[in-house]
Amino acid sequence: MAAVEKSIESDRKGAISIRNVTKIYDPEGVNVLAVDDCSLEIAAGEVCMIVGPSGCGKTTLLNAIAGFHSITFGEIYLDGELLCGRARPLAQQGADRVVVFQNGALFPWKTLLDNVAYGPVVQGRMSRHEARDKAAHMLAEAGLGNVGSKFPGEVSSGMARRAEIVRALINDPKVLLLDEPFRAMDALTKSIMHEALLEMYDRTKVTIFFITHDLEESIFLGDRVVVMTTRPCRTKKIVSVAIPRPRDYRLLSSEAFRLLVDEANEAVHEEAIKAFAAGERELA
Ligand SMILES: Nc1ncnc2c1ncn2[C@@H]1O[C@H](COP(=O)(O)OP(=O)(O)OP(=O)(O)O)[C@@H](O)[C@H]1O
Ligand SMILES: [Mg+2]
Repeated sequence: MAAVEKSIESDRKGAISIRNVTKIYDPEGVNVLAVDDCSLEIAAGEVCMIVGPSGCGKTTLLNAIAGFHSITFGEIYLDGELLCGRARPLAQQGADRVVVFQNGALFPWKTLLDNVAYGPVVQGRMSRHEARDKAAHMLAEAGLGNVGSKFPGEVSSGMARRAEIVRALINDPKVLLLDEPFRAMDALTKSIMHEALLEMYDRTKVTIFFITHDLEESIFLGDRVVVMTTRPCRTKKIVSVAIPRPRDYRLLSSEAFRLLVDEANEAVHEEAIKAFAAGERELA
């Protein structure tokens, strides 16, 4: 399996271990069981895609890894170190785990270069000069070398989103957490984003935890696609994507690719029907 080979092949960091995690929102009141006894092992340097019906608990899991909210039972480890568990229900937020959300979060009043350089400076990790040098270098690698002096409102949504991922990567995190980052994009921009993300991944080999509703995206990018059950969230099925990298858009028409999409689709569809029957908000 690709993910396991990766963890053996090097001393990379960023292995996530989700063990029997349960999350209940508002246990004294409305009592929403969002995640129930969910376990998942993600190897260091793996691109792990998370799919599942709307409202099943995917973001809840991501937020727990990021340290945005607590878990109720279970444990989450990063490289064997406890992030959260019984003794500490809320993981400490840290530069080792960075999040890119669906809605852009660049400062509109700063240039792309200053947006990327901002974090390491305020965290005291780099001098302003160092941070700007590194930001310029990374923006150039991401094909944004000539737009670093532009403001987010002056570039395309795809460029802004690429800059946002560069910003997330400037501190060399162990884990990149992405919550439907390309959801609102047209197909062409999306495919450019996919290539850009894979290039950045090839350079950094950061562990990626990527939530999406787009099954083609999940197979194209992922080492594994984890299909979650309808709420409460648990691992239903894991589809291993044994397609070699580098991958390019020609893969999309191959039979191997289509078969994997079908496999994931069958599992997601089954859960989406259950969600619909249970009166959840919408299908996957
Ligand atoms: N703060 C909260 N308080 C109470 N319930 C919540 C809270 N946040 C989320 N929920 C509920 O927990 C469940 C899981 O939500 P979550 O956002 O994790 O789902 P999701 O899989 O990310 O959905 P989507 O695909 O629509 O983004 C949903 O039923 C949601 O309404
Ligand atoms: Mg979500």
